[in-house]
Amino acid sequence: MSGMNRRWVLKRRPEGEIAPGDLQFVETPIPALGEDEVLVRNLYLSLDPTNRIWMSDRDQYMPPVEIGDVMRGGTIGVVETSRSERFKAGDIVNTGLGGWQTYTIAPAAIVSPVPMIPGVPLTAFMSVLGATGLTAWFGLMDIGKPQPGETVVVSAAAGAVGSIVGQIAKLKGCRVIGIAGGPEKCAWLTRDLGFDGAIDYKNEDVGDALDRLCPNGIDVNFENVGGKIMDAVFDRMNTFGRMALCGMISTYNDDGPPSGPNDFGRILMRRLLIKGFIIIDYLPRAGEAFAELAPWVASGQIKWKAHVVDGLENAVDALGRLFTGDHDGKLLIRVSPSTI
Ligand SMILES: NC(=O)c1ccc[n+]([C@@H]2O[C@H](COP(=O)([O-])OP(=O)(O)OC[C@H]3O[C@@H](n4cnc5c(N)ncnc54)[C@H](OP(=O)(O)O)[C@@H]3O)[C@@H](O)[C@H]2O)c1
Repeated sequence: MSGMNRRWVLKRRPEGEIAPGDLQFVETPIPALGEDEVLVRNLYLSLDPTNRIWMSDRDQYMPPVEIGDVMRGGTIGVVETSRSERFKAGDIVNTGLGGWQTYTIAPAAIVSPVPMIPGVPLTAFMSVLGATGLTAWFGLMDIGKPQPGETVVVSAAAGAVGSIVGQIAKLKGCRVIGIAGGPEKCAWLTRDLGFDGAIDYKNEDVGDALDRLCPNGIDVNFENVGGKIMDAVFDRMNTFGRMALCGMISTYNDDGPPSGPNDFGRILMRRLLIKGFIIIDYLPRAGEAFAELAPWVASGQIKWKAHVVDGLENAVDALGRLFTGDHDGKLLIRVSPSTI
């Protein structure tokens, strides 16, 4: 196939929030396919807080995106042309980090079929049944190790990862308190997802609210935000408490290393476990999470939402929504039309 590819390229490293000109939208010819390669037309692009980290030249878990390179991002698409025996035109596949572009050429070895489940839309595999759900499940189950009756607190609780964390913790018999921005998101947590309480960090003091809603302290903190919100939770953690450090989104636009908890001694005095994790390390064990999540999703026991923005050209503007909270569910770009 010949034709043009539309793609976002990193032109310079953002300082603070992403500014116009940090990325550039370009058109380039689609090269010919090599042996054992597939050409995939991307259907959905996942927008993730970590995209901002990848644009920076800071110490991180993957190399930063190089200046001049196509922006990195997770994609699902449909095979247009295949030079691999494993795939044929029309197959729906996960291209891994297929990038912010309309077409991805990938070696067949790194492409995997999307396991379709009747009644479950494709967007689920970019959310609750994709890296988002795996992050929630492994962070909570492998690090948080929630026990029935324990109190679990999750920040960015109405977001993609946080909303799944809280629902899993409920299914495991815990008392769950979520921290989210605004009354509507907080109402969704308690009314629709079954959280035991929600704290609107934009309109109330998080520490006071935690004292009210967690009278017996906090056993598990699933940390998505960092900064002052993390401190307020950390200061109330019980002896032998566990903190799964999933993300620190409040710091991603800042220069320099983010601060840790203000009372480091509490880790010793309360014998806390604090463990950072990145989901890629768990991918070999994905089946464990999938085995629990897929039936919960298919039966409706776990609810989830996708916020789909049309058009790859809108990806940069849309990414900013993760930092303002102006989105309702897992943030995705519809790169090209899908009938699935
Ligand atoms: N470790 C891993 O492998 C891994 C994998 C995926 C995600 N993560 C991390 O998980 C966290 C959530 O990611 P997600 O993809 O599920 O995004 P998300 O929660 O759907 O969206 C981000 C949310 O973060 C909240 N937020 C942003 N800036 C904030 C601030 N300054 N203070 C308080 N809250 C703020 C906003 O929630 P409100 O609207 O409620 O304010 C926003 O909606 C991020 O830290 C991300 O880096 C980690």
